This record gives sequence, C-alpha cells and structure tokens, in this order.
Amino acid sequence: MSGRLNVVILAAGQGKRMHSRLPKVLHPLAGKPLLAHVIATARALRPHRVCVVYGHGGDQVPQALAAADLAMVRQEPQLGTGHAVQQALPHLDASARTLVLYGDVPLLSAQTLSGMLAAGGDTLVLLTAELDQPGGYGRIVREAGGAVTRIVEHRDASPAERGIREVNTGIMVIPTARLAGWLAALTNENAQREYYLTDLVRLALADRVAVMTVRARDTVEILGVNSKGELAQLERAHQRRCAERLLEHGVTLADPLRIDVRGSLACGADVRIDVNCVFEGEVSLDDGVEIGANCLLRDTRVGSATRIEPYSFIDGARVGARCRVGPYARIRPGTELGTDVHVGNFVEVKASRFGEGSKANHLSYVGDAAVGRNVNIGAGTITCNFDGANKHQTVIEDDVHIGSDVQLVAPVTVARGTTVGAGTTVWKDTRPGGLVLNTTAQEQRPGWKRPTKSGEPR
Ligand code: UD1
Ligand code: CA
Repeated sequence: MSGRLNVVILAAGQGKRMHSRLPKVLHPLAGKPLLAHVIATARALRPHRVCVVYGHGGDQVPQALAAADLAMVRQEPQLGTGHAVQQALPHLDASARTLVLYGDVPLLSAQTLSGMLAAGGDTLVLLTAELDQPGGYGRIVREAGGAVTRIVEHRDASPAERGIREVNTGIMVIPTARLAGWLAALTNENAQREYYLTDLVRLALADRVAVMTVRARDTVEILGVNSKGELAQLERAHQRRCAERLLEHGVTLADPLRIDVRGSLACGADVRIDVNCVFEGEVSLDDGVEIGANCLLRDTRVGSATRIEPYSFIDGARVGARCRVGPYARIRPGTELGTDVHVGNFVEVKASRFGEGSKANHLSYVGDAAVGRNVNIGAGTITCNFDGANKHQTVIEDDVHIGSDVQLVAPVTVARGTTVGAGTTVWKDTRPGGLVLNTTAQEQRPGWKRPTKSGEPR
C-alpha cells in the first residue's frame, strides 16, 4: 500500500429496523460490536488517522469503543453520508488519502481495501459490486465507453437506471486535498433531502479527477446490517468462513455448520471438535486435543492430548496435557490444571491449581485452592473458602487422599500424605500422613417411627 491514509468510519445512523435501544453498530457479530470489526480492518491498513462519526444512541458508541488512536466525532443531526464525512474533516490529514468505511459493514477484508488503495493518488476510487437484486442501492451509471459518469440513488433513479446491477457499496477512497471543496459544494436537492457522498463522483469528474472502480471479490464483504435477520445472515457467513479456515488447517469438525468462534481459535495438529461448541476470546488447543459436544471455552489454553468431555464450560483457565475434564465440568478463571489431571462431572473449580496426576472426579467445589500432585478429592468434597466477607486459601499437599463429602474450612492446610475420612469437616491444619476424621459414634434407635404427614390417615 502506498502513501498515508485517513480512515473515516460512518456510524451515525439509527438502524430503525433493528428495533433496539442499542445503536446498530454496537450489536455484536462473532462476540464483538459490528463497529469493532470495522475498526480492526481499518487498523490492519496502518492508517495515519481514524475517525469514527457517531450520532444515534448518545455517547454509547464512544463509551464502548473509545481508544487513543481513534477520533470520535458526533454528527447531530444526521443529514446524509456527505454531511457525515464533513464532520470528520477537521481530523483528517490533508496530505493523506481518505478511505470511507461504514460501521455496519463488518466483513469487508483488508485485502479488498488494499486493492482499492493500490490505485494512484489523485483519483476517486469506488468499491462496487454486481448484485442480482440491486434494489435499494445506489447504481453505478457508466457511459457507452465504460467510464463512470455518476452514482444515482435508488430513490432518484429512472426505471432504466434501476435495471443496472452494478451497485455502489459506499466504500470509497478520496484525495483529501479535494475533499473540503467538494463537500462544501454538495446540495440536498434529491428525493431524501440529504447531502449525498455519492455526488462526489460528479464533482470529481467536473474537476477532471479520474474515477476508478474496484470490484469486491465476495459480495458478503460489502453487505451491511440493517435488521436482526441480516445480522444473523452475516454471523452465519462469518462462522462458515471460520470453520472453513479450521478445516483447511486440518482440524476435524464434526459439523462445520455447528461451531461458533467468537474471537480467535488456534489449533495444533489432529484437533477434533464435536458439534455445538462455542469458543470465545482467545482459545488455543494443542496437538491432539478433543472437545466433546456442547462445550464453551473462553480465554483458555488446552494442552496436548487432553479431552474435554461434553457440556463443559471452561473460562480463563490453563489446562495441561493429557487431562480429562468433564462431562459437565465448570472451570472458572484463574485455574491451572497440570498434566494428567482429571476433573469430572459436576465439579466446579475456581482460581485453583492442580498438580500433576490429581483428581476430583465427582460433585465437588474447589475454590482458591493449591492442590499438589497425586491428590484424590472424593465425591462431594467442598472447600469452604468464603467466610461471608473474605476468601481464604486451602492448601492440599502432595499425595493427600480425601474421602467423600468432606468440608475443608479455609484457611487450612492438609499436609502431605494425609488421608481424610468421609464426612469430615477439616478446620485445623493436619500433620503429614495418618488419618484425619471427626469421631461421632454412629447410633441406632430400634423401634423408631418415621414421622407421618399431618392429616394423613394412620
Ligand atoms: C448509501 C449510498 C448508496 C449505497 C449504499 C450502500 C449515499 C447517498 N448512498 O445509501 O449509494 O449503495 O449506501 O449501503 O451515500 N450515515 C451516517 N450519517 C448520515 C447518514 C448515514 O453516519 O447522516 C451512515 C449510516 O449509519 C450508514 C451509512 O452511513 O452506516 C449509509 O447510510 P444510509 O443512509 O443507510 O445510506 P444508504 O441509503 O444505504
Ligand atoms: Ca443502508
């Protein structure tokens, strides 16, 4: 790409058809706002300046997406796309070219834009697309020789012009030195009483500035979101692409139509993913990892040859190699599982470390705990880490064996090699080795009768 670049992102529209109080550009696609996708694409071009024009929905847009490298300008009232770009003008570098993008067109690729920017400096470059159903779009009008003469909006077009299938995507590159003059010359004498950015074509030609067009490679790139239906369509298109990329990389997907990646998913060799899994934030799966059906993994790293069994939710964790997690496990942020760890069904682990070879296979809560190596935690064991005001640590040293239904009242340390009997409440630190249990003798009362429901016949 040659030369310096300004990017203006138009995002002031209301998005009436979304039927939402949230500004349209803040609705999420693949887990992040539409506008955030466009900003990311803009940044990939290494621009000199980026200016977002917002309007509807008050300050929700700057509140959600303000960043040091973004200028945010409010457009109020919204008088059209030309008027919107005019608001950005004070933030633009006159010696750079200006690329106009739209906050509701999320799937545009940086490659397509690089193609537009490859064209020479003092030209107006339009991104166009050929659509079978061009209704609603501005049409590209060309003379017999093929040169563009103007863009006509659907509502201003004659029946013959409405037959044109080449449409204006709205995305254009403008020589900035000319922009102020052209914008000042715009009028709103049209069907919508708006200042149309598309009128720049006519003004450029009058100034003998060349108008060039670049075709979008894939029409999905140029599609905007105006309704929840269109948002869902673009979400599916995006997910299909993510799935295709994973397949090309050698990942086995039980069904490419039933995976959702909301962020980045990095996979090693021979990774297998069953149906209906969701990956959020940054997830990485090392070689040979298998993910069972219906799992959600967020900001998590999984070591090689580990199996995550169905219906597990793993959030903000590091899972070591050769582990087995789930089915129905919940692993919460700050958890680190070493090699060969087993965390089984209905086990919740929060901010805890498990050393190599340790297991909590059934129905447990392990929170704020440091668990050593080769520890076995029996069914129904719970760390009582919260005293109603503060969280406390539980330390379980190497080779400890904890029976079923044990309460570990933190802060407490279970020393190396201790065995804790079933049903014990451990509230004092233990010494290494030996058996720890609460002794309450079991009694039996012969002839005791079960209570009956009052009113029931005896
Ligand atoms: C615009 C183009 C049309 C093109 C179509 C592609 C013009 C006059 N027409 O029409 O040729 O085919 O996009 O989708 O440019 N916006 C603002 N401030 C405003 C008006 C609009 O920020 O005052 C933003 C909107 O949020 C939206 C985008 O600009 O993201 C397009 O605006 P919209 O009014 O929908 O233009 P279209 O009629 O679709
Ligand atoms: Ca539109």
